Amino acid sequence: MSTEFENIELRKEDKIAWIVLNRPHRLNALTLELMEELSKALDQLEKDNEVRAIVITGAGERAFSVGADVTAFTMMEEGSRALLMARVSEAGQKVIEKIERIPKPVIAAIRGYCLGGGMEIALACDFRIASEDAELGQPEINLGIIPGWGGTQRMVRIVGLGRAKELLMLGDRIKAEEAYRIGLVNRVVPPDKLEEEAKALAEKLAKKAPIAVMYIKYATNFGSQAPLLTGLTLESLAFGITLSTEDAIEGISAFLSKREPEFKGR
Ligand code: COA
Repeated sequence: MSTEFENIELRKEDKIAWIVLNRPHRLNALTLELMEELSKALDQLEKDNEVRAIVITGAGERAFSVGADVTAFTMMEEGSRALLMARVSEAGQKVIEKIERIPKPVIAAIRGYCLGGGMEIALACDFRIASEDAELGQPEINLGIIPGWGGTQRMVRIVGLGRAKELLMLGDRIKAEEAYRIGLVNRVVPPDKLEEEAKALAEKLAKKAPIAVMYIKYATNFGSQAPLLTGLTLESLAFGITLSTEDAIEGISAFLSKREPEFKGR
């Protein structure tokens, strides 16, 4: 386990890295220091060829994260607020974008509250697993503000415009089952099974061909933001690249000789 972080915990188990948002006394509320540490951890994991899948979760049983630490909002001078907060928004967006860009699958394992910036971190992940006791939402409207770390954009892309406006404009928390029903989370599991399920999913992903996983992540994340023809061109190019990898030779020959493939990420 790394000791260089104070607000998160980073540990590696075999091919899986765990990032734990670690301010349980504040329900893992997000400070700028925590976001900087998250950014550094993602940079490290991007370069770490041993790591094939990442799980982000919250410390303690009560929350994944309740979002930005609102105490910071009250500490600034009236005059400088707009500019400063626009910068805070941009800085946070850049960190969260790293989750979307990192060439490895990222799973959010959600226990308890997943609100505001916590929800925005989870929205950028490739998979969301929630425990039955999870409550999710974008409550910023109740503070008279709006999400600033991608919530107005990624929520729409995941649950559609109609449902997203409901979540964003009403600011109500929804339970895990409802989140599953509207496609906001992929799976709902009992609280005591959350870690196990996240680990099993990460292990399954870690066995897949890493270059193919990376291109699926990029083609879906970035292709879905482009016109169809641009997305299809991106897909063709990525398809060509995956077919030229050693892993493609391994995958096809393993299939033909009826054995399990062993992908090396080459
Ligand atoms: N930032 C800073 N502190 C927060 C926080 C946040 N976003 N959310 C909760 N806390 C603090 C509370 O102030 C409280 O601190 P205290 O013990 O010193 O009083 C502690 O965490 C526990 O919260 P509490 O409200 O007592 O627990 P609860 O179970 O009754 O309610 C929530 C939990 C998450 C529903 C409620 O705290 C809440 O609505 N928080 C705000 C969430 C939000 O608006 N996030 C978006 C921010 S932009």
